[in-house]
Order: sequence, then C-alpha cells, then structure tokens
Amino acid sequence: MRYKRIVVTHYGGPDALEVQEEECPEPQRGDARVRVLAAGVSLPDLLAREGVHPETPAVPFTPGWDLVGVVDRLGQDVSGLEPGQTVAAMPISGAYAEFVCLPQDKLIPVPPGLDAAEAVSLVLNYITAYQMMHRSTVATAGQRVLIHGASGGVGTALLQLGRLAGLEMYGTCSARGAAIVSELGGVPIDYRDQDFVKEIRRLTGEGVDVVFESIGGTHIWRSRKALRRGGKVVAYGLTSSLEGGRLASGRPGRRNRLHGIPIFVLFIAAGWVLPGRKRVVPYSIQTLMRLKPALFRQDLTTLLDLLRQRKIKPIIARRFPLVEARQAHELLGKGGVTGKIVLVTDGATPAAGTT
Ligand SMILES: NC(=O)c1ccc[n+]([C@@H]2O[C@H](COP(=O)([O-])OP(=O)(O)OC[C@H]3O[C@@H](n4cnc5c(N)ncnc54)[C@H](OP(=O)(O)O)[C@@H]3O)[C@@H](O)[C@H]2O)c1
Repeated sequence: MRYKRIVVTHYGGPDALEVQEEECPEPQRGDARVRVLAAGVSLPDLLAREGVHPETPAVPFTPGWDLVGVVDRLGQDVSGLEPGQTVAAMPISGAYAEFVCLPQDKLIPVPPGLDAAEAVSLVLNYITAYQMMHRSTVATAGQRVLIHGASGGVGTALLQLGRLAGLEMYGTCSARGAAIVSELGGVPIDYRDQDFVKEIRRLTGEGVDVVFESIGGTHIWRSRKALRRGGKVVAYGLTSSLEGGRLASGRPGRRNRLHGIPIFVLFIAAGWVLPGRKRVVPYSIQTLMRLKPALFRQDLTTLLDLLRQRKIKPIIARRFPLVEARQAHELLGKGGVTGKIVLVTDGATPAAGTT
C-alpha cells in the first residue's frame, strides 16, 4: 500500500516542505500503525523546519508534533489496543503523514464522538497550557496572570483553562486578536502599540503573580518586570526567533538546536540572585513527557474529559488537507491566526457543531 507524507527536504521556508509518496511502513514488534486523521500545525513545527527548535531532527524528516488517528494494524506483542480504536500521540516529529508507526505506550485512547481536529489541539497546546498552569506553578482562583501571544494556539488554551481555574487574566496580542482575548475572559493588551509592563502596572498596581512567557530572548526580562514581588515567569517559547514565519536572524539553512537556550539559563540564574523573589522557570512539554510519561497521559486524559464535557472548546483557525502543509505553514507564519491550524486527512469529518 502507498501512502503520503510531508518531508522537510532542507532547513528553510515553507518551500522546504514536499509531499512524498512511498510504501506504507509496517509496524515493528511493540508498535501499532495509526491512520492519521488530524495533525496539529504549530510554531514549534516552523521552528523545526527552520532548524532552530531544540528537537529539530536531521533533514530529511517529516514534521508534526501531535496527532489523532485510528489504530490500523498491530505489530507483534501489542496488547490492550484494538484496530479501529481512536488514539492520540505526541511523537514530536512525524505526524504530517497518512500513516505512522508508534510504540504502543505512546498511544493514548481518545473517547468516541470527539472531533479529531479539536482533540489534536489538546495534545501540544492544551497539555502545555495545563502543565504550566498546574504543575510549573499552582494557579489558584483570584491570582493574576499575564499571557503573551494570548490569541494564538497555546494562548487561547491558557485563557480557556485560566477561566476554569478562576484566574484574573491579561493577554498580549495584536489588534486582530483583541476580540477573542476579551471573549475568553482576558483583558487584551496590544503588544504592537502598548508597553505591556507599563500597562500591567497601570491596570494592576503591584503586578501579576505569573507571566506565561512565549516570546523568548530579552522579552523574558521585560516579563519579569511585570511581576509582583514573589511572582514567577514561566518561560516556554521562542516566538521572537521568527519574523513573518522565517528566521528573524536571517541565517536559515543550518541546524542550530541550541538557539535561544543560553539566554533562558541566564535569566533563570538572575532570578535567583536578584532581589524581589521573582523567579524565571523554564517549561518544556517534551522534557516533562520523557521524565514523567504517566503525568503526560494523566493530563491528556483529564483534558479529553473536559473536551467531552464541553468545558473547553479548542478554536480551530483552519483545517487544511494534509497535502497543503506548505500553505498551512505560510498562513501560520504570516501571523494573525486565532487558535490552532490543523492538517486533516480524508478520514476526518468534523463532528456536528464544530468549526
Ligand atoms: N516549551 C514548550 O513545551 C512549548 C510547547 C508548545 C509551544 N511552545 C512555544 O509556544 C509559543 C506559541 O506557540 P503557538 O503554537 O501557540 O504559536 P501561535 O499559535 O503562532 O501563537 C503565537 C502568538 O504570539 C503572538 N505574538 C507574536 N509576537 C508577539 C509579541 N512580541 N508579544 C505578544 N504576542 C506576540 C502572535 O500574534 P499575531 O500573530 O497576531 O502577531 C500569535 O498570536 C511558540 O514560541 C512555541 O515554540 C512551547
């Protein structure tokens, strides 16, 4: 059987993405083959395509952090999974494909009746948001938080989970994102026209308890200035590495996986040394998944249950057919996207009432 997958042929722009067709892989011992229904498109995919994400594989590779699909065939010695069962996984790369073989312990059951695009949004974006909110810090009702990139994939997840937790929320976004930030319960701050540190001081007086910091670089330091005494910056992103979807440094074409890491270390150390008890702590979903796989499984199961109960509703910015991955990257790189872009295959039909 032939299948299609997307391949990054060289580090660079969206033109580095190619559709390739080849023989479908067979599952090895302990693996299951999954027919992918939906694969998420996120900034980490763009960072890997450009060669700067810490998890960037060597080229050529198939990108795609997260997927939802249906178990299609079992390798030897696999138990507890049935062909036809819907599952989710976060392989970090490889999800932009019609079929993927994964170890059975990486597959997490998805309750029946959920829309695949909504369910896949939970894997990278909502687990990141949930773990930052409840594991990197313990968010309690009434706490004030600042969410950067609040209208994006992780940002909208933070807003929805923050509302459930009873947080007072402020969110930086461009003018296009202000309406959705307000709708999800946050106070929008236009990052292009306003100084967010001054604005937070004006709105709150003493500052916020937590900043969810997705921009990276020296922006982390400005975020620290928005904290009240004893507050915490959870630093997790490298959005400032990209401009218009391409490397801001203008030096594409090579693999540089340590990009942005030294400055994280510097700010974490400074947080301990300087007065004010203001800490900078890093968050990495892949590190936590590797160190504590049971926690990853537990948190995704909790989120799937919240989705089943309609207590959270991932915003799907747009669904693209898998073979249009390049257009999906172009759109995300342009900016102004609200929520999550998802690649879908022929088998994925949106559930009633979804966008
Ligand atoms: N550490 C982890 O485990 C982990 C996991 C997942 C994601 N991430 C990181 O999280 C970040 C967000 O990912 P995503 O997929 O949610 O991206 P996304 O959907 O593209 O959202 C990024 C948002 O940031 C906004 N933005 C850009 N520059 C900004 C600035 N200077 N100030 C405030 N907002 C700004 C954009 O707004 P406009 O487009 O309107 O300008 C956009 O809404 C990325 O850096 C990604 O690498 C980290």
